[in-house]
Amino acid sequence: ENQIKKYKIGFSQTGHKDDWRKAMNQSMEIQAAFNPEIELTILEGNDDINNQIKDIEQLIKDKVDVLIVSPVKSKPITPIVEKAFKSGIPVLIVDRKIEGNNYTAYLGGDNYQVGLDAANYLASISESKKKIIEIKGLFGSSPALERSLGFNNIVKKNKNLEVIKTIEGNWESFSIKDSLRVVLEAHKNIDFIFSHNDRMALGAWEVAKEMGLQNSIKFVGVDGLPGKKGGIKLVQEGLFLATILYPTGGDEAIKLALKILKDENFEKNNILNTTVIDSRNADIMKNQFDKIYQQQQDIEHQQLKILKQEKTYTTQSLTLKLLLAL
Ligand code: FRU
Repeated sequence: ENQIKKYKIGFSQTGHKDDWRKAMNQSMEIQAAFNPEIELTILEGNDDINNQIKDIEQLIKDKVDVLIVSPVKSKPITPIVEKAFKSGIPVLIVDRKIEGNNYTAYLGGDNYQVGLDAANYLASISESKKKIIEIKGLFGSSPALERSLGFNNIVKKNKNLEVIKTIEGNWESFSIKDSLRVVLEAHKNIDFIFSHNDRMALGAWEVAKEMGLQNSIKFVGVDGLPGKKGGIKLVQEGLFLATILYPTGGDEAIKLALKILKDENFEKNNILNTTVIDSRNADIMKNQFDKIYQQQQDIEHQQLKILKQEKTYTTQSLTLKLLLAL
């Protein structure tokens, strides 16, 4: 019905409740709005693998021109993604990976590097023996595996660093609170908690606070989102020692999808930069994000205006048609 919309892009997201996913969706929507030929559909899996499989089946039925997927877990999502790919739909995997090679391109931060960065940072500030608790993301999702591998590969080689306990989380704050309480009761003198994301790191900080340990333990997270409860703010406020910026890549994903659609050259593996944020650069990072946010607001404002104009135009021409028909 709308002839401008040449390309259907379908995105199967893991879930829609946390701020990182919201930021990712928003940057995709803004990038899509820049390209009027794109019709973007986001299906929001609810952090559940069965929902996500249904979502992808739906997008295949809808005959999307490109399928973007951020898998809740790698292994169980692989068959349906392979089905889409083998049926001829280009598939762009973002953030979390699938198993094997049956996809068109991947885009995301290097999660092994995120783990290395976190451990190297702790190594650089440790002149004596330090005890660490590691809090992992959801078992079976590739960033949890890779962040842990990178982190432990450095820790293993450093005589000052020791992971004395690992806690399995599911990326959300509530998932780690009970087990952390037990671990902190049993192990005194913990120096660092490295958590695979900022939401769980904040949960860990809250548990430590209940126990009066929030100042003796130093917290390092991952994500570094701007905004109220985001990692940058938590570093600025001194709750976290540091966080590793893990970009969502929403706008890059749409740009890459367009390249695939237009048959332009692209890489199969597209790695986004990550970096350590601590008290030395948190202000700069915040300013940068504030600027981007302001620009996004301006763009959305413009988009709204255009939409309103289009609506007025359609009602006007409709009225005209009705009048002419009289
Ligand atoms: C958001 C999130 C982030 C984390 C990423 C890993 O849903 O949990 O906090 O960095 O997913 O895929």
